[in-house]
Amino acid sequence: MKHIDIKDVMNDASYIDKEVTVCGWVRTSRDSKNVAFLEINDGTSLKHLQIVIDKAVMSGYENALRLGTSVCVKGVAVPARQGGAEINATSIEVLGECPLDYPLQKKRHTLEFLRTMPHLRVRTNTFNAVFRVRSVMANTIHTYFQDRGYVYIHTPLITGSDCEGAGEVFRVTTHGFDTEYKDEQEYYANDFFGKKAGLSVSGQLEGEVAAMALGKIYTFGPSFRAENSNTPRHVAEFWHVEPEVAFAELPDIIAIAEDMIKYIIKDILKKCPDELAFFDAHFEKGLLDKLNSLVETDFAVLDYTDAIDILKKADKEFAYPCDWGCDLQTEHERYITEEVFKKPVFIINYPKAIKSFYMKQNPDGKTVAATDLLVPGVGEIIGCSEREADYDKLLSAMKERNMDLDAYTDYLELRKFGSVPHSGFGLGFERILMYVTGISNIRDVILYPRTVGNVR
Ligand code: 4AD
Repeated sequence: MKHIDIKDVMNDASYIDKEVTVCGWVRTSRDSKNVAFLEINDGTSLKHLQIVIDKAVMSGYENALRLGTSVCVKGVAVPARQGGAEINATSIEVLGECPLDYPLQKKRHTLEFLRTMPHLRVRTNTFNAVFRVRSVMANTIHTYFQDRGYVYIHTPLITGSDCEGAGEVFRVTTHGFDTEYKDEQEYYANDFFGKKAGLSVSGQLEGEVAAMALGKIYTFGPSFRAENSNTPRHVAEFWHVEPEVAFAELPDIIAIAEDMIKYIIKDILKKCPDELAFFDAHFEKGLLDKLNSLVETDFAVLDYTDAIDILKKADKEFAYPCDWGCDLQTEHERYITEEVFKKPVFIINYPKAIKSFYMKQNPDGKTVAATDLLVPGVGEIIGCSEREADYDKLLSAMKERNMDLDAYTDYLELRKFGSVPHSGFGLGFERILMYVTGISNIRDVILYPRTVGNVR
């Protein structure tokens, strides 16, 4: 259909006094004695375009007054009082009628209400802004790595291994529900791959394969976790950015992570000013100040052991008390980053017992060269480590965890044939979106959130 994007009509003065055709969905309507007004939105702009209907010259527009109706409007663009343009309509064609039970009748609905209709909530300003930032940020991330010589690798989504070893793998099977086998072994042997397979929780293990040849790589794709955590920060399907760098130790990868985060935020500040102003006004007061100051701030680096000291001395009751060796809970992470440092914090050198098998074991024999990046408001957005490059140490860490070594032969051989120090991290794409938009529930930064008991 020949038409002009609303964003262009609003911003380009050369359309003024010209006949234009615009399309969109009706967001508001007002019917007065001599004139009727529609505000329409086609998704290209946060601002709606006003359509002015002179009742003396136009009839048959009544159906177009219903919210949600899709219309094609012809008319003349004229300057609007509040800036930009509005359209003096000469004709309105209803493309799709919208009955009165259209749920988006009010100006503002709660995010909880909107979550019940993922197919319609995208038509609101909030989700328009979320998905525009999401799209721009995906491009920003690719640009960051591409400009620095990283190779974009597509790692498999179906795997035979469990990268995080946490048993949160969704199983992939073609067996029907009524098939019966005498034991687990026979069950998997008869399945599509002839062995147990699942959806990848992380592209890291295959990313390391590529980095051991290409030097610097990154992946950017979905990861799947069957975590039974019904929290505002977890989804079962999330998008994962995972760079992997050869000849890099923990401090090197920390510097890369900090640089990348600042680059992303600077770019979004530059490219999405209207969206960020919207989030600042409606979701997190002070968001713009937070983002502007973050790009000028040095992130803190804190040893896990010191973090435990801080938590033990804290003048605060935690629901989960913690001692050396415990995994930090969200409340601990948030206390450290929000109340103590008030800025992003890399916690380094975690106890090896609470971290994954692949992390480089420190000389103290107790900790690993791993770090999580915690940010105020969200908590952990990056999980990062130097990888264990020593064959024997890796093997013993895997044996300690009773891992099925057959599923990791490629991974082990990387340590046999020209092993090098190397490091990488995983950035949760939805987590950084939450940080940048101020949206506090991860379900509201992804089109169709997959969570426990919820798929549609
Ligand atoms: O800390 P994680 O588990 O680290 C890994 O998966 C490593 N293999 C990454 C690597 O070194 N290449 O996950 C990394 C990040 C987390 O910090 C978090 O931001 C995000 O992935 N994440 C989730 N995001 C949303 N929902 C979930 N269920 C998530 N689980 C992890």
